[in-house]
Amino acid sequence: MKIHVADHPLISHKLTVLRDKNTKSPTFRQLTEELVMLLAYEATRDVKTTSVEIVTPVSPTRGEVLAKPRPVVVPILRAGLGMLEGMTRLIPTAEVGFLGMVRDDVTLQASTYANRLPENLTGRQVYILDPMLATGGTLIAAIEYLMERGAHEITAICILSSPEGVAALEKVVDAKGLNVTLVTGALDEKLNEKGYIVPGLGDAGDRLYGVV
Ligand code: URA
Repeated sequence: MKIHVADHPLISHKLTVLRDKNTKSPTFRQLTEELVMLLAYEATRDVKTTSVEIVTPVSPTRGEVLAKPRPVVVPILRAGLGMLEGMTRLIPTAEVGFLGMVRDDVTLQASTYANRLPENLTGRQVYILDPMLATGGTLIAAIEYLMERGAHEITAICILSSPEGVAALEKVVDAKGLNVTLVTGALDEKLNEKGYIVPGLGDAGDRLYGVV
């Protein structure tokens, strides 16, 4: 599995404000969008393009545009929704699919409660948006499902990741030989006994949508 941990002063700055427990939902949402745009810049480094001929006011030339079929962006509900705006601002032509997944507080197992995806994922480049890679259960379930549906290449964009989550994901991805890349804003210290990332930022969904 390819892993890219962002290393940029602007990302570090925005992450620090995002983590702060005194940061309120409106600022948290704004910062999430901004962080996603910065992470998406890295995550889309290998997005497929195709060569086209155009004419500038000065002369004919060739250039690159996003190839078809269009990339698919899949936010994992609920917290991934807070990352969608930033991603679609960067790739306005992307197709968007939704996966609703919830983690059981006791078993920490992920289950799917909503599924709205493009009919055909065969050969598609898919970008999964999930702010917190904690145990890895949700992301692994989502990746396995999207690959079963024909996705060719998946890039997961996570704002924060835990070492435990990265290891769990890497184990499955490498064992199954899946074409998966992880782009994350930071690799934190650990998971606590409740499955929260430490130091983390708390419950991303609650902080985005104000249920605190
Ligand atoms: N989900 C969150 O929102 N926060 C964590 O720390 C772990 C999982």
